[in-house]
Amino acid sequence: MTDFIRTTPLQRMQKYNPTRAPVIAPVAEGRLVRVVGMTIEAVGLQASLGQQCAIVLDNGKRLEAEVVGFADQKVYLMPIQNLDGLRQGARVVPLNEQMGMRASDELLGRIINGLGEPLDGLPKWAGEDRVQFTPNLINPLKRHPIAEPLDVGVRAINALLTIGRGQRVGLFAGSGVGKSVLLGMMTRFTEAEIVVVGLIGERGREVKEFIDHNLGPEGLARSVVVASPADDPPLMRLRASQLATRVAEYYRDRGKNVLLLMDSLTRYAQAQREIGLATGEPPTTKGYPPSVFSKIPQLVERAGNGDKGGGSITAIYTVLTEGDDLQDPIADATRAILDGHIVLSRRLAEEGQYPAVDIEASISRVMPAVVSAEQLQQAQRFKQLLAKYRQSKDLISIGAYSQGADPVTDQAIALQASMRDFVCQPMTQPTNFTEATAALAGLFGSAGANTAGAAARPGKPSPLKAGR
Ligand SMILES: Nc1ncnc2c1ncn2[C@@H]1O[C@H](COP(=O)(O)OP(=O)(O)O)[C@@H](O)[C@H]1O
Ligand SMILES: [Mg+2]
Repeated sequence: MTDFIRTTPLQRMQKYNPTRAPVIAPVAEGRLVRVVGMTIEAVGLQASLGQQCAIVLDNGKRLEAEVVGFADQKVYLMPIQNLDGLRQGARVVPLNEQMGMRASDELLGRIINGLGEPLDGLPKWAGEDRVQFTPNLINPLKRHPIAEPLDVGVRAINALLTIGRGQRVGLFAGSGVGKSVLLGMMTRFTEAEIVVVGLIGERGREVKEFIDHNLGPEGLARSVVVASPADDPPLMRLRASQLATRVAEYYRDRGKNVLLLMDSLTRYAQAQREIGLATGEPPTTKGYPPSVFSKIPQLVERAGNGDKGGGSITAIYTVLTEGDDLQDPIADATRAILDGHIVLSRRLAEEGQYPAVDIEASISRVMPAVVSAEQLQQAQRFKQLLAKYRQSKDLISIGAYSQGADPVTDQAIALQASMRDFVCQPMTQPTNFTEATAALAGLFGSAGANTAGAAARPGKPSPLKAGR
């Protein structure tokens, strides 16, 4: 029996079948038979789903690919790099390496790709810890509940859509509405100790612009940027999203409060769409195969608080709403699994209100758990007045509204300009949480705290204090 344990199957075969012709060890290696688009097909390969393989090129170099599916004798792989130099019949060798990278605080200020290699042309860091790319999942019941606000340094969000430590929020916007500027502001102004920025599927030029203009040296110094531009293969874009999450987990596990900014979740979904369709999944809404809708929660669920006493990952995922369409399947799917959404409106941006946060359309579902009752009430009052003003706007603009007809409308008109000023914030000007809440309270005057009905009380006009 002990012999059985100590010997390998091959040795045992040799021992018990001495007369047989030389026993050949099982061949796990395969051959390349077909490449269609980004899908590589190999036969003879014995590898499991998700396993890394190396395709050996004629020049001796190797191209890495990952097993993404199989059917009958065929194994489907997707490349991580671009497919130059592939030849029919090339060897496909399964690798048994665990994918990982070294990490430490030296990662701060660095720009890396989805494989954890530097993109900024600087030498590789040493790193005292080894981080496997596979996530270490936290038991959801052990997670610390969301109980404290996270100061993101943006007044409208701090005061009216407060984000909690460990919350996951969607930032919904069309292109050119100010997502990058807003993410840059948060990176520079937040109280979170570490910011991890995932730049997924943007044009290469945008990646550079974001780093140079939106982050700047000050923002970059406290962040780790994981970038995978649009011309990377889809698998690399997925990897980069996962690696950004993994880096955030690494710092969270070391007790840090991390802000994870992922721009964009839509491009992540699109990368998975490319892979799903290429491996024969059926397309559903807008061509997205079912796997996309399971991949999104898998990524998003990794953010959040750690065990009690540990750090946190507060995550903001941008979701592109093409033509400002909030019914997009990805927008729909993410809204359901996130703990809130901030909507940037093109109309407000066009009116010159930056950040163009549409307060009425946005919501932070954890806000009631992380702010004072007064702040919550004032924020609700703010929303109510905005809505009132919008509803009565036409009447007001044609002069058909007479003052005094409705006290709430009167207050909405009186505070309209100050509320707009309150939301506006130049991209270079930080505001902290205390300043934001004080400004909100100031907006409604000292009586604002106790009353949603302040306006209803005759003879007590609210002082108009600007929110800045
Ligand atoms: N806070 C702001 N203050 C002034 N201008 C802004 C602000 N935010 C955005 N903008 C303007 O909007 C443009 C587009 O913003 P950007 O963040 O690049 O959009 P997106 O990332 O959504 O495509 C910027 O170039 C800038 O002119
Ligand atoms: Mg952008």
